[in-house]
Amino acid sequence: MFLDTEKNLITKLETDQFFSFDSRYDYKEYIQKATNYVADFLGNSKFYSGESPIELRAKTALLSMDSDKALSIDEALDEIKELYLDHAIGFHNPNYVAHLNCPVLLPAIVGDLMASSVNTAIETWDQSTSATLIEQKMIEWICMEIGLPSTSDGVFTSGGTQSNFMALLMARDNYAFKHYGLNLKENGWSDVVSKFRFFCSEKAHFSIKKNAALLGMGYDAVIPVTTDDRMKMDPNALVLAMEREKQSGNIPIAIIATAGTTDFGSFDPLGTIAKIASEYDIWFHIDGAYGGCYVLTDTHKEQLKGMESANSVTIDFHKTLFQPVCSSVFLVGNPDHFKYVSHYADYLNPMEHRDEECPNLIEKSIQTTRRFDALKLWFTLKMTGTKKIGAFLEKVHYLALDLYHAIKDDPCFEMVHKPELSTLVFRYKALDINEERIHDTINLYIKNKLFKSGQASIASTKLNGKTYLKFTLLNPKSTIVDLLKIIQMIKNTGSNYKNNN
Ligand SMILES: Cc1ncc(COP(=O)(O)O)c(C=O)c1O
Repeated sequence: MFLDTEKNLITKLETDQFFSFDSRYDYKEYIQKATNYVADFLGNSKFYSGESPIELRAKTALLSMDSDKALSIDEALDEIKELYLDHAIGFHNPNYVAHLNCPVLLPAIVGDLMASSVNTAIETWDQSTSATLIEQKMIEWICMEIGLPSTSDGVFTSGGTQSNFMALLMARDNYAFKHYGLNLKENGWSDVVSKFRFFCSEKAHFSIKKNAALLGMGYDAVIPVTTDDRMKMDPNALVLAMEREKQSGNIPIAIIATAGTTDFGSFDPLGTIAKIASEYDIWFHIDGAYGGCYVLTDTHKEQLKGMESANSVTIDFHKTLFQPVCSSVFLVGNPDHFKYVSHYADYLNPMEHRDEECPNLIEKSIQTTRRFDALKLWFTLKMTGTKKIGAFLEKVHYLALDLYHAIKDDPCFEMVHKPELSTLVFRYKALDINEERIHDTINLYIKNKLFKSGQASIASTKLNGKTYLKFTLLNPKSTIVDLLKIIQMIKNTGSNYKNNN
């Protein structure tokens, strides 16, 4: 009787959609069909359809999510093509030069599909077995490329923001423990923490301030240090800022240097800052979310000197190692510092069952359930290899330099910097207009017009109150000809604005 009920229920629930032995042929069919649609997406000529938000909203508004009728795979793919694939932003398109989104490598996609299908959860050995060892191997590899000490260790995270969060948390808790015997993890806040100060360049990523706020320390705990004309942290200004804070009763606890700032791709002088951090005996973190992968190149060895002496490092493979989101790592020279995030739960990783042979990576992470992101990196290193990746990164750097040289003497443009990495920040200047405010308006007009029409996606940013355009070049398949076409679009759109206003 009981068995009959179970049988009926199971038939009714159509369990063949679960990833299982019974569904293996359906699995292949679904994936095959889905990949056909994704391959068609690559045929879109524009980086974006240009459909307006109103049109896109109208389409999603018609969607009914409570229908009893289950769609077939073909029907679902048709529907999602219209709703999503036809309008998704194509980061592989040479006219996409806006943000830090890279085109992804095929081997990495294979790894991502495999990790998603098998659905390994990497947090404990009993959920991941050899996947844990593969993640550790990938961490070992990147630590070795950077030249961190043989004791170093790390963990995959959801992105640079989370990696930087871990850095600030460790720096804070370590300082509190070392100098005041405080155990913030167990006992919580102490008044002295309100005096702790982090120092980073004024061009550092906003996640430093945001993370300080999330840690309960507030934006005021982050002291921005002035940069020189190449957008690099000025070491003299750093020392002055630390001394000034000390005089007002605050306590410098960490310096965060950036290896590749988001807007300008500038590298803070890592070696000099490492020495200053060591003299002050405080934590030295390097945010290499953007520029850290340039350890694989021959072009940026000099800029990255000093990285090996950091207490902690952030690197985003989903920015400059051509990986699908997410793929970032947080690395530490001394793995003992993971104690500030570790937790032992009876149901998951009881302290008394600790076994070095079968590690539980949750002890190094602020996440619990965590994706096996290391697998796509494994495929990439095995099938693409570090030499080629280094060459891709050099290519996009040279593209930025070529573009700089191609337009720097053009009176239609005002340049801000010579690219150190792969971004270029500049401003369109209408020749017969002197008012900076109008230039701001025209530059924003150009950016929005090109995006809305699906012609090109360019970013904008601000410097000293003025609006600039930004190219972020991460596509090694782009050519200078592609980029000059976008430059021509900018000029045409800029002069159209003038004619129409
Ligand atoms: C220098 C730098 N650090 C951190 C981040 C944050 O990275 P994520 O977006 O992966 O959280 C970014 C993002 O652009 C960045 O450029």
